Amino acid sequence: MPATLIDGKALASQIKAEIAQEVNQLTSEGYRAPHLAAILVGHDGGSETYVRNKVLACEACGFDSTLIRYEDDVTEAELLQRIHQLNQDDSIDGFIVQLPLPRHINEQRVIEAVDPRKDVDGFHPINVGRMAIGLPAFISATPLGILTLLRRYNIATKGKKCVVMGRSNIVGKPMVQLMLQKEGADSTVTCVHSRTQNIAEECRSADILIAALGQPGFVTADMVKPGAVVIDVGTTRVPDASRKNGYRLSGDVDFEAVSEVASAITPVPGGVGPMTICMLMQNTLAAAKKEIYKD
Ligand code: GUN
Repeated sequence: MPATLIDGKALASQIKAEIAQEVNQLTSEGYRAPHLAAILVGHDGGSETYVRNKVLACEACGFDSTLIRYEDDVTEAELLQRIHQLNQDDSIDGFIVQLPLPRHINEQRVIEAVDPRKDVDGFHPINVGRMAIGLPAFISATPLGILTLLRRYNIATKGKKCVVMGRSNIVGKPMVQLMLQKEGADSTVTCVHSRTQNIAEECRSADILIAALGQPGFVTADMVKPGAVVIDVGTTRVPDASRKNGYRLSGDVDFEAVSEVASAITPVPGGVGPMTICMLMQNTLAAAKKEIYKD
């Protein structure tokens, strides 16, 4: 039986509609709409697309948004100065600095300059640490989107064996934490990465396999246990002359072959990607409502 398609695009639309309804209610009660700001440095194609989609998602949710652009040669000091202003600005509920940044800027210094109460990306060490010990925190949008997909599709996670492929700070590591948490997925978790021996064998033991490597087609059918749930986080641009824009997005999973083995699978595009942006909106709403940090 072919796998169930986990439709992140449809679920993201539904959640954005739920958020818009809540914003409508808040504004009718006299509160102002949530307000997200995004800082975009330079003109990287991927980053431009992500930020444009974030602004569009704000519109769909009834949020205000502010896009702040800098050229590639902005100094770290200028960027930090703008972050301090946003930290102080009571009209902004949350903001993000789109990554990656140019090489002359220290990314970690930028991440740590953001007030944790406005860190809707969940990248600040305070949010990362609070999440890891199960305290209220802003949680990185991609892992939170994956957990939401699993929950809304009623996929059992408690006590299940989950293998996370990749150990990035944005996806792999927080994903491990969320799948591990009692209040999260409550799974038994293994993380595999570029130094892992017997990756295929580890993957075959997974009831839930989450691939976040950025290597197109890495996960083949022989690496998947029959009936496993497969989540594909990969969104690598690969050249494709048949497309108008000259590329297509490729996931980490060989979709055609793996969907013959898995019980459920996310497509690329239309799986995890739309959920990520939707969770950024959810975090921004939580920031506006002061749900995480109450003061
Ligand atoms: N670059 C890739 N993913 C992300 C993300 O979720 N947030 C930010 N700020 N930059 C990114």
